[in-house]
Amino acid sequence: MSKVVDREAVRQAIEKLPLFSSAALQLLQVISDPDHELEDVIKIVKFDSALTMRVLKAVNSPVYGLVKEVTSIDRALSYLGERMVVSIAVQENTGQLFSKPLEGYQSEPGGLWRHDLFTAIASREVARYANGNFDLDLAFTGGLLHDIGKSVFATFWKDASLEALGQIEQGIVSDYLMAEQDLAGLDHTEVGYEMARHWQLPESLQAVILHHHHPAEAIECMQPLVYAVHVGDIVSMMAGCDTGSDGLKYQLDPGYQEFFNLSPNVLAEIVLNSEEEFSKAEASLVS
Ligand SMILES: [Fe+2]
Ligand SMILES: [Fe+2]
Repeated sequence: MSKVVDREAVRQAIEKLPLFSSAALQLLQVISDPDHELEDVIKIVKFDSALTMRVLKAVNSPVYGLVKEVTSIDRALSYLGERMVVSIAVQENTGQLFSKPLEGYQSEPGGLWRHDLFTAIASREVARYANGNFDLDLAFTGGLLHDIGKSVFATFWKDASLEALGQIEQGIVSDYLMAEQDLAGLDHTEVGYEMARHWQLPESLQAVILHHHHPAEAIECMQPLVYAVHVGDIVSMMAGCDTGSDGLKYQLDPGYQEFFNLSPNVLAEIVLNSEEEFSKAEASLVS
């Protein structure tokens, strides 16, 4: 049976994507190093005037209700946290990818951005309950980019979503990812991985994007991070922040229990905290 998606056309679409600015790439590289310092992030932001402007605009957004206007990057960063700067840089460098409607998933414009932002926040919350040391902001960044592959994949996937849902309903496949594989011969995690390689994103982010639905397949040292985003993704869908027709149509891998202490009470708290932070973050990031 011929596949509904032309692999070569997908490859060409990825190749045409504009590259990240060197400041954004540097920022992602610095963040992915667990030993980095806030000062390193401040330096990068200060050298990029567009990024500086956006960061100041975000911190002075009415949602934060600051009485005095913040005009220095140092103060803005200590108030917003590195993760908001990462959000701004990613938003700036991915152009329309996050905001266009995901046709193939019947999702509204902006649906992918909201899902990824919620997942970022939830993944960071999950990471707070890790058994060992954990770089919280890296979990956030991974969550923010985990489904980026859908932006390109959805254009080719188009009407196949209905067929995918039918396959799941009839028990032909067990989840949405398998339906993508079955019908298209590739899935949104592979497309995202190719995009991440095209952009030369750090390896940890590449691993999150490729393995977020099957975290056990990631190499061992990446597994805690990939599991954090895996759970954050499910939390995001449970909170109703999905990308359309594939919402909650993925499996939860219980292997996360090895890395995180998540009781039902903790999970409920994660959902509440994430919702609160999400509404502020979303409002302050309106470009
Ligand atoms: Fe996904
Ligand atoms: Fe997702």
